[in-house]
Order: sequence, then structure tokens, then C-alpha cells
Amino acid sequence: MAARSVGSSDKYSILLPTYNEKDNLPIIIWLLVTYMDKSGFNYEIIVIDDGSPDGTLDVAKQLQNIYGESKILLRPRPKKLGLGTAYIHGMKHASGNFIIIMDADLSHHPKFIPEFIEKQKLCNYDLVSGTRYIGSGGVYGWDLKRKLVSRGANFLTQLLLRPGASDLTGSFRLYKKDVLEKLVESCVSKGYVFQMEMIIRARQFGYSIGEVPITFVDRVYGESKLGGSEIFQFAKALLYLFATT
Ligand code: GDD
Ligand code: MN
Repeated sequence: MAARSVGSSDKYSILLPTYNEKDNLPIIIWLLVTYMDKSGFNYEIIVIDDGSPDGTLDVAKQLQNIYGESKILLRPRPKKLGLGTAYIHGMKHASGNFIIIMDADLSHHPKFIPEFIEKQKLCNYDLVSGTRYIGSGGVYGWDLKRKLVSRGANFLTQLLLRPGASDLTGSFRLYKKDVLEKLVESCVSKGYVFQMEMIIRARQFGYSIGEVPITFVDRVYGESKLGGSEIFQFAKALLYLFATT
């Protein structure tokens, strides 16, 4: 696979939203650089930190010193403003024609990114979504409650909206930049439910969706920011989309 994209003008902007990820950030960035360099793809990593009290931004600055300002871009915001708007903020600063979004807590392994890129090229997909729910995909480390929440959210959404994609709440995805811009414009949700709305809108607009099985491994360091209010937001958005799309 090496050198495959030499001469290609494609550039991949990887968005990493962070909130209290000081222990995870050095590892995820090292893995990203390792896998992207090995595959020869042109890329940049954009860290969107929301004023993490644990000093994530300072760690990010040190990493920027190590890997260079053209590889690591810092686009912080003063306070925790939510995952959905973090992506939008990062996208505005992206110079790539493709955008990759992923979690920064090592739940999403960078080794899958070359597969996303190959898949996209295969059929010129508008977006490629990582899926835990087909083929070799899966979830590791979640308790039963968390698994049920995820399965339940996917099941209900499949039932009500028939989106034609197997993992609706996952957030490991690759988008053509102009496609992501159009989707973002039409999305109303701001929190975690953003992922689900994006894929529903993609179907609504007739965008083509490729899927790559991924394994999601629960974080080792730090804790999830998903809480009861996110579940409520999800239910609300699901009903809204059911009524309007
Ligand atoms: N900038 C910013 N602002 N980053 C945030 C915020 C925020 O308000 N909230 C969370 N993040 C970052 C975290 O630091 C992490 O890198 C990523 O967003 C995901 O947050 P987690 O708190 O680790 O999410 P999770 O593991 O509970 O949820 C994952 O699975 C869900 C369902 O499968 C995520 O992938 C979700 O996006 C997904 O919906
Ligand atoms: Mn996580």
C-alpha cells in the first residue's frame, strides 16, 4: 500500500475533539502519524480542545512541537461546547478535501483509517462509516447497560428511519469535505446525537455510504462524557427526524 497515493492531491484532515484526554492524546497522535506516514497519505491532525481542566491543550502544544505545525493544528475553544459543534469548528479550519472524524480516547484505532480511504476510493463514496455491527466489527469493554443503550439506539433508529447503514451512532467516519459541509448545514442536533442525524441526512440527500467494520475498544484513561441527558437528546432527535424526514 505504501507510496500508493504519491502524486495524488488528496488530503485528509483528521479531527480530534478532546475533553480531558491528556493521557490519551500522545498515544493517539503517535499512532495516527505512524499509520498515516506508513501509508503515504497526505494529512493533518486538528485538535479541538474545549478548555479541558486537565491540561490537554498543554500536552497538545508539546506534541505540536514534536511533530510540527503543519501536521498538528490546534483549534481550541474556551469551554465545553459539545461534540457536534467541535466537529463543525474543526472542519472550518481543515485544508483537506476529505475529513476524518474520530474519538481521541483510543476507542477508535488509527489502523482502520487506511481501510476507510481504500474503501472511499473503491466506489468514490461520499462518506465511509466505521461500523461495529457488521462483519468483523465489534465493541470491547462496555458493560451491559452501555451495550444495550447503543444497540437500542441503533435498533430504534433502524426501525423508525430505515437509514441503510448499520452503525448510526458511531463516530469513526470519513467524509468528502463538501459533503460534510452540506450535511452540517442541515443538521439541527448539537451533542452526541449529531452522528445519527448526519447519517440520516446523508441518506435523505442520496449520498453514497461505504462501511468498514471496526472494533471499538472502551477507553483505558479518563471517562466517557456520555450521560443521561445525551440519551434524552437522542430520543428527542429521533422523534423529530421521524416526524420530519
Ligand atoms: N472538544 C470536545 N468538546 N470534545 C469532546 C466533548 C466536548 O464537549 N465531549 C466529548 N469530547 C471528546 C472526547 O474527549 C473524546 O475524544 C470523544 O469526544 C468521544 O467522547 P467520549 O466521552 O469518549 O464518548 P463515548 O466513548 O462515551 O462515546 C462514543 O461512542 C458513542 C456511541 O457509540 C463516541 O464515539 C460517541 O461519538 C458515540 O456516539
Ligand atoms: Mn470514549
